[in-house]
Amino acid sequence: MAESMKGLKRTHRCTEVSNQNIGEVVTVMGWVQKRRNLGSLIFVDLRDRSGLLQIVFDTDSVKEEGFAKAETLRSEFVIAVVGRVEARSGAINQAMITGEIEIRAFEIRILSEALTPPFPIEEHSQTKDEVRLKYRYLDLRRPDLQRNLMLRSQVAVLTRSFLASEGFLEIETPTLCKSTPEGARDYLVPSRIHPGNFYALPQSPQIFKQLLMCSGYDRYFQLARCYRDEDLRADRQPEFTQIDMELSFVDMEDVMDVNERLLATLFREVLQVEVSLPFQRMSWQEAMDRFGSDKPDIRFGMELKNISDLVANCEFSVFKSALEQGGTVRGINVNGQAAMPRKKIDALVDFAKGVGAKGLAYLAIDKDGNYKSSFAKFMTEEELEKIITRLEGKPGDLLLFAADKNSLVYTVLGALRLEMAKQQGLLKKDEYKFLWITDFPLFEFSEEENRYVAMHHPFTMPMEEDLPLLETDPGKVRAKAYDITLNGVEIGGGSVRIYQSDIQEKMFEALGFTKESAYERFGFLLQAFQYGVPPHAGLAYGLDRLVMLMAQEENIRDVIAFPKVKDASCLMSKAPDIVDQKQLDELKISIIE
Ligand code: AMO
Ligand code: AMP
Repeated sequence: MAESMKGLKRTHRCTEVSNQNIGEVVTVMGWVQKRRNLGSLIFVDLRDRSGLLQIVFDTDSVKEEGFAKAETLRSEFVIAVVGRVEARSGAINQAMITGEIEIRAFEIRILSEALTPPFPIEEHSQTKDEVRLKYRYLDLRRPDLQRNLMLRSQVAVLTRSFLASEGFLEIETPTLCKSTPEGARDYLVPSRIHPGNFYALPQSPQIFKQLLMCSGYDRYFQLARCYRDEDLRADRQPEFTQIDMELSFVDMEDVMDVNERLLATLFREVLQVEVSLPFQRMSWQEAMDRFGSDKPDIRFGMELKNISDLVANCEFSVFKSALEQGGTVRGINVNGQAAMPRKKIDALVDFAKGVGAKGLAYLAIDKDGNYKSSFAKFMTEEELEKIITRLEGKPGDLLLFAADKNSLVYTVLGALRLEMAKQQGLLKKDEYKFLWITDFPLFEFSEEENRYVAMHHPFTMPMEEDLPLLETDPGKVRAKAYDITLNGVEIGGGSVRIYQSDIQEKMFEALGFTKESAYERFGFLLQAFQYGVPPHAGLAYGLDRLVMLMAQEENIRDVIAFPKVKDASCLMSKAPDIVDQKQLDELKISIIE
């Protein structure tokens, strides 16, 4: 039977006890990690969120009844122990924070018994994800997840105090909203009082934070839950948290400055890492040309090189036809990989095809300067030399080329570059390279909808010098938008907003909204702007992504207490689920089978 606390007070967490406390009587509480019986001695490793502490039960110190209780302990029992702190009787355990000491128990209470867990509660779990997530409350007992969630808490607390010290106000915005224009699909919530009407869960607090600027709150922030019904990936969850902020009377530089200092503070306080300020900046076009990505990982080089001009008249039909169709030919140099076996090269070709390429051309330069290549035979010696010079090829290098529509060439080589860096172990997890990406295109053309869509959102300010292009050549307009990236991950993004109604109207026009449809969706914002609006700008981080990188995790799930899996379901609670007919009736909803 479970015993009660009966006035017993915990004095220390497990690892708060140290050799400073030797001789003191302490009360500790936690879970049994393991028990070892050595005849008249019983050793128990006690675990709490701080770590492990060794408890010793011997028949001299603990009453017979207590010793008998200790003999029944099994993994994950919850116990309270009163005892004296002593220097270890056995060998010191260097691997344990409390390895120099142990607690000699006088008294034990079994607060709760436990079933045998379906997997061991230990660091670096080998257990299948599905099992871990089904028993997430047990998974969360593991030290790595506990460390991650403690780190997350620290980031949240520090963010609040830093932003408060910079004059930001924390203000909550609704989560039952009208749909926001952020591009992803909305999660909808049916209204009982207005049958047939739906709230949308916010994809971000974008419109509300802009309204707060109109209302004079001049610096706002919020740790905001956001919801997007999009395909899940390693760095995407259907519900996630933003560190969201908006500032009045500022320009891009002011937003960047406060955010660089915020990130530097977080990295210094949480990881004891000094990041140098200001962060590097790069225009979107430069990022695409050099790295094939708008969130380039700049911990390594292997930059893309455009060779379109060098192969314009070559005899290799793959390159030639790509250029004739308005595409480009670009390559990367994988240093020192010329001896890569054919099988591995074929695997790279398959990898490239997996991200949309039609093929991948290669040229390996062996130690003696001889070529092994899928296309060299179609090239003149002069053409080859020029290509190799452009890619800075040396004996021992492997050069990879993609020819296609330009955007696809970026995608393929951008992905291949990362894949090669992974294979070669070039990605050091404890190296942090921040990079601002600026000068984004304002629009991107959606083949699906056959119109321009906002790359960021429709309230993003165009660059002043590009304003005349809004009506004539929207594809060329650059935006006052910026992303903050870290090690190849977009951790945040924002923009300077449009606050002038004439520019906003032109923007809607370019996006194919009629004045009526724009007012239908965002009328309250447009109206608010007519009553005096300060120039404003803002940014939002994906808190989960930021913490994922700080915790050196590969998957965003490992920094979220109760995450969802790929099909957006929760394996533990089994959400989403069907509901009672009565609930559907109240909502006037019928299900079509
Ligand atoms: P954006 O859409 O770029 O901007 O989102 C900001 C940041 O949120 C994170 N993020 C996600 N994290 C986890 N799972 C997801 N599904 C997910 N989607 C986005 C990313 C991203 O950089 N309102 C604007 C911000 C602004 O302009 O101020 C916005 O939401 O790290
Ligand atoms: P093919 O003419 O399709 O046999 O291709 C000849 C070589 O060019 C093969 O090595 C292909 O992998 C490669 N290749 C095909 N399409 C492309 C492409 N779009 N870009 C780069 N290389 C390609």
